[in-house]
Parts: sequence; C-alpha cells; structure tokens
Amino acid sequence: MIIAPSLLAADHADFGKAAARAAKAGADWLHLDIMDGHFVPNISFGPQVVKAVRPHARNLFFDVHLMCSKPEILLEPFAKAGADQIIVHVELLEQGEAVLPGLIWKIKNLGKKVGLAVNPPTPISLVQPYLDKIDLLLVMTVNPGFGGQEFIHETLPKIQQADLWRRDKKLSYRISVDGGINNQTAGECARAGADTYVAGTSLFGQRNLKAAIAKMRKHIHANDPALADLMT
Ligand code: DX5
Ligand code: ZN
Repeated sequence: MIIAPSLLAADHADFGKAAARAAKAGADWLHLDIMDGHFVPNISFGPQVVKAVRPHARNLFFDVHLMCSKPEILLEPFAKAGADQIIVHVELLEQGEAVLPGLIWKIKNLGKKVGLAVNPPTPISLVQPYLDKIDLLLVMTVNPGFGGQEFIHETLPKIQQADLWRRDKKLSYRISVDGGINNQTAGECARAGADTYVAGTSLFGQRNLKAAIAKMRKHIHANDPALADLMT
C-alpha cells in the first residue's frame, strides 16, 4: 500500500519543511496538486515550487497531479523539476481523441510514470482504452479544486470496476483515491480495491504525522480483502 500525503494541505509558506516532515513520518509518496485556474476553479503552484521542494525530500516519490487544461506545455517543466509520476485527466478527451495518447507517450518519453485521473461525474468506461498504457489510475473521490471536501461515496463502484478490469486483463496499474480520504474512507476504498491513498487534510492536519500515517495504514490493512482472505 502507498500513502501519499497531499502538499496542498500543508503550510503554503513552508512547503520544504512539510515535505521533509512527510518523508520523516514514513510517507511513501508526496502528492503535488497542480491547478491552473481553468481546468479547476483554483490555482495552486507550479514547477518552480516543485523544484524548490525536491531537495527537502530527495527519497520521496513525487506524484504530480495535473488539474490543467493544457498539460502538454507543463510536462517537461514538471519532469525537470523532479516529478516521478505525472497524472493527467481523462476529461481532456473533450479536446479530441488524440490528446490522451499524445500526453501518455510524452510522459513516458520523459522517463516518468504515467497516471490517468477520472472525476466523480465522469463515467469510468472512458479510461478503459488506456488501462494497458498507464501505471496508475486516479479515482477522484471529490470534485477536484480544493482540499478538505467530503468524500463522495458514489465513487466506490468505480474503484471496484477498476479492480475488476485489472484482474480480468491481468494488468498491474495502481488504483489511487484522492479527496476526503481519512481512516474510515480509506478503509472503504481498500475494500473496493484501492491500493494508493492520497490524503491532505486528514494527515497534514495532525500534530503527529507519523502516528497519523501509521494509524491510516492500520485501518487500510484491517480492510484489505487480500489480508482478510489470508486470515480465514
Ligand atoms: C483535490 C486534490 C486533492 C486534495 C485532497 O482537488 O486533487 O489531492 O489535496 O485533499 P483532502 O485530502 O483534504 O481532501
Ligand atoms: Zn490530487
């Protein structure tokens, strides 16, 4: 299981310190939310900030989530800034069929892992043609744009479907969940088939981040169907 604290919920005046804190607290990845004020109604931060944060957490895997209308102009800057994985949204399909294959190819060509995200109102079927080309599927469990929102339970069947496809097609993409993830909702996602958990408010909001991450891991373990099978 991967736990990825989301920097969006950290002190924006001190991202370096927050990244170092996440690394020290036992996080697996650091999730970086990039918002352009167009794809989503909010602006976060850009490649220069990611580059500045990178030396503070050299060993953390940087999971860069692009909520941007023109990701093609940002792939190289974020790759150079230290991204390990770049996630783009399936909703970009609205711009034309050729957009996603081009982006996926370019991200791979930059030597980075590639993720595809799907918003709550978007049918999960839209990601199906790309499943054999991606490293991670990000099921948004809130409408993107802001941290601290309530988990949308109607997204759980999408996680189940993504897990079914993964088994059926013998693929190995990760299934990540993002938005409103706390100990309880992480458990629900684990039961549905998720393996990667992005959490902002519920982790960075805690005084003791190490204990919060350990506690979330415990909740996920307790709900992981694979582990439950082993115990029976
Ligand atoms: C939402 C972002 C999330 C956000 C999650 O647009 O994609 O990554 O940081 O924040 P919480 O965990 O507070 O819902
Ligand atoms: Zn995100």
